[in-house]
Amino acid sequence: MAHILHLDSSPRGDRSISRQLTKRFITSWTKAFPEDSITYRDLGHYPVPFIDENWIAASFASPEARTPELTAAIALSDQLVDEFLAADYYIFGIPMYNLSIPANFKAYIDQIVRINRTLAVKDTGNGLIYEGLVKHKKMVIVTARSDNYRSGTAYAYQDFQEPYLRAIFEVLGITDITFIHADNLAGGAEARQQSLANAHAEIQTFIAALKTQ
Ligand SMILES: Cc1cc2nc3c(=O)[nH]c(=O)nc-3n(C[C@H](O)[C@H](O)[C@H](O)COP(=O)(O)O)c2cc1C
Repeated sequence: MAHILHLDSSPRGDRSISRQLTKRFITSWTKAFPEDSITYRDLGHYPVPFIDENWIAASFASPEARTPELTAAIALSDQLVDEFLAADYYIFGIPMYNLSIPANFKAYIDQIVRINRTLAVKDTGNGLIYEGLVKHKKMVIVTARSDNYRSGTAYAYQDFQEPYLRAIFEVLGITDITFIHADNLAGGAEARQQSLANAHAEIQTFIAALKTQ
C-alpha cells in the first residue's frame, strides 16, 4: 500500500487546467490502486507563509537549542516536512507563472527544504557538501502553460520551471520525476485540445506502467 501527496498550486478553481489534470490523475490512481491513501493540500487557495528571520534561526538551531518562540516559528514547517516524508509518491499541479513557478509553490519549497530533515549539509573545511535525505520516491509534476517551451522550440531557453523543479527536488534526493506538460494552451482551440489529449494519455500511460510493475 502506497501513500500519495497531492498538491495543487493554481489560485484558480474549476477553470484551472493543472487542477483538472491532477484530479484526473488521482481519479485514475484510485481506480487502479484503491487501497492506497492520499493526502491533499491546496497551496493555491491556502498558501503557506513565507519563511522569516525566526524561521531561519530555528532551522539552523538544534531542536534542544530552540527557544519556545523559535520552536513555534518552525512548527508548520515540521508538519509540512512530516507530511512530505510520509509520501511514497507525489503528484503536484504547478502552473507556469512568469517563466517559473507560482510564489505559493516557492513558499512551500522554502518550508520543506530543511537541514537534517530533508537535506544533510557537511562542511568539509573546503566547502559544503549536500546530501538529499528524501530517497526512493517518485514524483509526477503536471504543469499548465499558455505557450510551448519544449526542447528544440524557440523559447525552450525560457523554461525556468522544469529545470528549477528538477534541480531543487534532486537536491533533496528525488531524481525519479515525470513531467506532464499541458502547454500551448493559448495556441488556439486545436492546439489546446491536442495538448490536453496528450496530457490525458500521459497520465494513463504512467498509471498503466505502475500497474504492470
Ligand atoms: C500571473 C501569470 C503568469 C503567467 N506566466 C506564464 C508564462 O510565463 N508562460 C506561459 O506559457 N504561461 C503563463 N501564464 C499562463 C498560465 O500558465 C496558464 O493560464 C495556465 O493554464 C495556468 O494554470 P491553471 O490553469 O492551472 O490555473 C501565466 C498566467 C498567469 C496568471
